Amino acid sequence: MLIAGNWKMHGTLADVRTFADELAAGISRAGSAGLLICPPAILMNPLLGAFAKAGIGDRVGTGAQDCHAAAKGAHTGDTAAGMVADAGGSHVIVGHSERRADHRETDADVKAKAEAALTAGLIAIVCIGETESDRREGRTNAVLEAQIRGSMPEGGTAENTIVAYEPVWAIGTGLTPTLSDIADAHAHIRAVAGDYVEAANVAILYGGSVKPGNAGEILVLDGVDGALVGGASLKADDFLGIAEASGV
Ligand code: PGA
Repeated sequence: MLIAGNWKMHGTLADVRTFADELAAGISRAGSAGLLICPPAILMNPLLGAFAKAGIGDRVGTGAQDCHAAAKGAHTGDTAAGMVADAGGSHVIVGHSERRADHRETDADVKAKAEAALTAGLIAIVCIGETESDRREGRTNAVLEAQIRGSMPEGGTAENTIVAYEPVWAIGTGLTPTLSDIADAHAHIRAVAGDYVEAANVAILYGGSVKPGNAGEILVLDGVDGALVGGASLKADDFLGIAEASGV
């Protein structure tokens, strides 16, 4: 069970300190759930320091929201996976729908980034998800399959690759698929992902409007191994509430 927070483009140095202190104060609520926060790259190292200072450095991981496919070079504004590892990060999210939309990232781009993450010794969290029109027009499974086949890294294993199922229309909207739609999507993803990694062991996270109030019923579903949480990961109390709701 992994509860991963994606802070997106939110947070300040002051927020980092407050979050770490509040998370430490309530950490027992998380039980045995794995915890990971992916802040903006510039805040990753301060967050690691704040977790260590608050005494939860070994309990909560830190990762990045994106990386470049190349190890280094003339790529203004980008961050290499090796830099994420060097700064103390353990994971990197690749192929988030906001990256796919804002930066026109293709499945091939996402695959190359995931491979760079693995080369750097990081765990890649590969995001996939259908749009509202995909779902309305009955293309959900086909879209998910194409994204998996296009985005899964060469050399991926169930240990170094996580899949995050994030319906685009559920992100930041307060909407979620029905529980049976989530379970169906995870089963389909697991079946297709089995061509690339060990299906039984690969972690598949659900993401899209996860909150303390709906986390319990989502996280208990068969085939749901955790959550990728945007908005509700910005407040330690909500983030802990989601981990607590996982019941592990
Ligand atoms: P949300 O975002 O929880 O704010 O819907 C999820 C995500 O984009 O990872």
